[in-house]
Amino acid sequence: MKTMADYRDHFPIFKDKVYINSCSYAALSNEVEAAFLQYLKDRHEKGADWIDWCDRLERVRASFAELLSAKSNEIAVTTSASASLSAVSSSLELSGPRKKIVTTDLAFPTEAHAWHALKKHGAEVAHVKEKDGMIDLDDLESVVDQNTLLVAVPLVCYRNGALADIPAIRDIARKSGSMILVDAYQGVGAVPIDVNVWDVDFIVGGSLKYLLSTAGVGFLYVREDLIATSRPTQTGWFAQEDIHAMLIHDNIPAKSARRFEQGTPSVPNLYAVEAGLQMILEIGVPNIRSHVATLNERLKKGIQDIGAKLMSPLDPDKHGAMITVASTDEYALVAALAKVGIIASCRDGNIRISAHFYNNNDDIDAVIAALSDNKGLLA
Ligand SMILES: Cc1ncc(COP(=O)(O)O)c(C=O)c1O
Repeated sequence: MKTMADYRDHFPIFKDKVYINSCSYAALSNEVEAAFLQYLKDRHEKGADWIDWCDRLERVRASFAELLSAKSNEIAVTTSASASLSAVSSSLELSGPRKKIVTTDLAFPTEAHAWHALKKHGAEVAHVKEKDGMIDLDDLESVVDQNTLLVAVPLVCYRNGALADIPAIRDIARKSGSMILVDAYQGVGAVPIDVNVWDVDFIVGGSLKYLLSTAGVGFLYVREDLIATSRPTQTGWFAQEDIHAMLIHDNIPAKSARRFEQGTPSVPNLYAVEAGLQMILEIGVPNIRSHVATLNERLKKGIQDIGAKLMSPLDPDKHGAMITVASTDEYALVAALAKVGIIASCRDGNIRISAHFYNNNDDIDAVIAALSDNKGLLA
């Protein structure tokens, strides 16, 4: 069996750099690089291969389904997490009494935009404030009521790494008969997701981060028994029951979650996504979660030992793969780390250190040493 160290060797960047930035985007593997090149080769060699494009789309759909323990017909392959959110937003029915959409202050902006855009159709958007960097369940419960159509939460917050308790949030939503959407982009590939355990209505995400590949491909999970009654107005020919019917006098959406798709898929990126997903499925997300948890225990201890301010929860069950540290100038700190070959990123006053299966103890020690050398930039 291959070890995590064996997999690390598939990522050339580690020859020169400490890459610990998967919350922003993943390191590039030899396999993903080869997949991109294969796309170009196929164009040269085959010219046109529409059948393969469509087959590839279906293979990617099946891999997303496997990743989430979902059925393929519950997956739409989109072009970004934002496109998935817009597709859901366009399907929401606001003509009844339920007009409230509940989001949180931990939301990635695009998630909130999807709901605010619906105000022109009468939607009311309520924001639950964060408490100690987390979603407070009592606060959430006090906002969700019989008029709530949808509760939307991030699995992992992009700013501080906080991990939401999805089953508890789902129970609050269900008590009032509301639907629930999870923005899983900062978790998928690093935090196990099983739709049978979560039992939520929608999950959105994309491929660029812990799924190892690229921008240009997102996904949307739609709970099977919601599909038939969902009528997204963000649509297109790939959303039709028969893509090749070339129908122009009606809109006949697919019976599956494909009805949330739009146009020609992002084909070059599908090649890459297929390769990225294959590696993640081969390693297994629970193995990734436990490897990264061990690294993050070392990282959090190091952060505390040098007197830096940890902005992520200390409890390993309450954060995703990303660990954040407060900075007086987060951009300068990212640049200072880059000068010594460490690639990290920042948001909202915090530096974000996001390990994946390809990181190891030496990477963590290098990050701690570099933070210690830049104490002047720590808050
Ligand atoms: C939690 C979360 N949701 C959504 C997005 C937006 O993804 P996309 O650019 O694919 O729409 C991001 C991007 O960083 C994110 O971190």
